[in-house]
Amino acid sequence: MRTPLIAGNWKMFKTAGEAVALVQDLSRLVADVSEVEIAVCPPFTALKSVATVIELDKLSLKLGAQNVYWEEEGAFTGEVAPRMLQELGVDYVIIGHSERREHFGETNETVNKKVAAVIAHNMRPIMCVGESLRQREAEETNAFVREQVVGGLANLSADQCANLVVAYEPIWAIGTGRSATPEMANDVCRHIRAVVGGLFGPDICREMRILYGGSVKPENIAMYMQEPDIDGALVGGASLKADGFADIVKFDEQRVG
Ligand code: PGA
Repeated sequence: MRTPLIAGNWKMFKTAGEAVALVQDLSRLVADVSEVEIAVCPPFTALKSVATVIELDKLSLKLGAQNVYWEEEGAFTGEVAPRMLQELGVDYVIIGHSERREHFGETNETVNKKVAAVIAHNMRPIMCVGESLRQREAEETNAFVREQVVGGLANLSADQCANLVVAYEPIWAIGTGRSATPEMANDVCRHIRAVVGGLFGPDICREMRILYGGSVKPENIAMYMQEPDIDGALVGGASLKADGFADIVKFDEQRVG
């Protein structure tokens, strides 16, 4: 059984103070949720404060970061090393988000280095893949996503990838209000599972969680969660308010359709 994971990607929103307030509000609203893993991924500057709240209030929320650099340490001005995150109690690290690929020049090669570095430090990568509108219209989605998955996981073993999470986020659905249909999303998630199965065998691909991301909101989460190959969601805009995010976490209570 794969435990559902709902992760909030707060992008470049929330100061440390705002992030703490949001976590406190959210934790009250989801206090009775036990069968869903919840992760919050604030900006680097809020990680320490959020980690402290999680620890002091004994919250069951997991902490995630939105990026990392792959070197241990060194003269890399502005970058953050894996062990700096590890020390803060970071559990998940989002890697290769389409915004990082688009605005910060990330490639499958750099994603691969980051995934390896995160795994080496006992954190769990949430590796993001997804096609552009042009690629979808040209029916290149599966080939493109395969390339991202294979490239991102190059030189890794099945054991190393035991805790890998993949997020399928069609670029045209991110922050646009235009979400993929559940069937469309599940088709690509199934394809991703098959690609990982081809690389590492059936056990890993059966256990691996695949999230859908792209304009997920309380009104559509239940439809995605009904799909067999979708194990959760990476939520951007709708994770910035406690009540909306809590409604997504409680997807069982939302109406389908
Ligand atoms: P969105 O973002 O939910 O605002 O579409 C998702 C993401 O970028 O992870």
